[in-house]
Amino acid sequence: MDKIRIVGGNELKGTIPISGAKNAALPLMIASLLTEEKLILENVPRLADVALLQRILGNHGVDITTNGKRNGDDPYAGQTLEIDARVIVDTIAPYELVSKMRASFWVVGPLLARMGVAKVSLPGGCAIGTRPVDFHLDALRALGADIEIDAGYVLAKAPRGLTGARIVFPKVSVGATHTALMAAALARGESVIENAAREPEVVDVADCLIKMGARIEGAGTSTIRIEGVPRLKAARHAVLPDRIETGTYAMATAMTGGDVMLAGARPDLLEDALETLRHAGAEIDATNEGIRVRRNGAGILPVEVSTAPYPGFPTDLQAQLMALMTKAKGRSRITETIFENRFMHVQELARLGARIQLDGDTAVVEGVERLTGAPVMATDLRASVSLVIAGLAAEGETMVQRVYHLDRGFEKLEEKLSRCGAEIERISG
Ligand code: UD1
Repeated sequence: MDKIRIVGGNELKGTIPISGAKNAALPLMIASLLTEEKLILENVPRLADVALLQRILGNHGVDITTNGKRNGDDPYAGQTLEIDARVIVDTIAPYELVSKMRASFWVVGPLLARMGVAKVSLPGGCAIGTRPVDFHLDALRALGADIEIDAGYVLAKAPRGLTGARIVFPKVSVGATHTALMAAALARGESVIENAAREPEVVDVADCLIKMGARIEGAGTSTIRIEGVPRLKAARHAVLPDRIETGTYAMATAMTGGDVMLAGARPDLLEDALETLRHAGAEIDATNEGIRVRRNGAGILPVEVSTAPYPGFPTDLQAQLMALMTKAKGRSRITETIFENRFMHVQELARLGARIQLDGDTAVVEGVERLTGAPVMATDLRASVSLVIAGLAAEGETMVQRVYHLDRGFEKLEEKLSRCGAEIERISG
């Protein structure tokens, strides 16, 4: 298994190109199941999760071609996928595939809406909490589906198609909003989703569905209205930039000091996180090229932050912020409100010398003068990148093991950081 070796202490200086958002690319690829015509997606990041979803869609009979690279192409430019779901040969998503990536469960909505039937494995456990799928199933039931659970599989049927309905989510869920939106796009009549997720990735999916001929209003607010249409058509759509990757490199820059241009990043996608970084002492400027992040010698100031659904501080940046706060001048409090058990990075950060006390859903971080490198273990996607951030500022060598977690969500991480002066390399094996 590959490892990442980091020798900390270097400031980051230079340009980091921001990739397309993983959390938009995945549901956009899944949306291809809704139409017999071709969906062309641009700016798709090269990630293990994207490759896995290609396999999963392939299993349903979807044909995906990736445009090859040409001489002189920007090595950091995203890939273009041509997705052709003209023939769905199989409406079953098996456990072996769904258990590897939770988001693949989201095929249930489009398969059911277009084919009238879907058999999708329940995703099962996950390192950051129980993460049930009850909201997804309730939304599909509201749209008229008949749902049974049998032997670890969801069997969903709607032989006469889905019918528009009012769906009220008890709690904001990104995934369940995607499911409801995609299923309602092909339902008969009007649907209203209340307490919908407002995440930019939901808006990106809605924008793409609108290009495909869907009638959707209100994406980006808590109430989304959908007037179902009988079929959707071909479209071309570019995935929006990854706000989590943006925030991660912004925090890495704030951690090490230096001056980095996050090229192609959009500040409007992560205002709360950027404001938090300003409070922590980073200088943040929006430019035509992207977001410029700097920190001079003044040190990192502590913050108090609670994660929240968009537009609040994202849970997917919680671990990275905690890494940054390990070197702040004072005590920070970071509260996780979205997922239980999303503090696995705490033990690993402690191995680098961080002082963190857990108090229920709150981590109290006492900033220390110095971190020291050590071998650490990645536990999930965002936790693993927090160890990289800490390693960049630790004295000596940090070896991050189980980097397959990083490869799920961060494209060319070690290249992007070493281009800016970090001493970081992948050790294959
Ligand atoms: C998505 C993101 C993930 C991010 C999360 C929250 C993708 C591929 N993943 O995950 O990176 O951390 O949003 O911003 O986009 N819940 C239920 N029942 C359900 C569904 C959710 O109780 O049926 C709960 C979850 O356990 C959690 C909360 O709702 O406590 C929010 O989860 P949700 O927004 O659904 O997360 P995902 O869509 O899985």
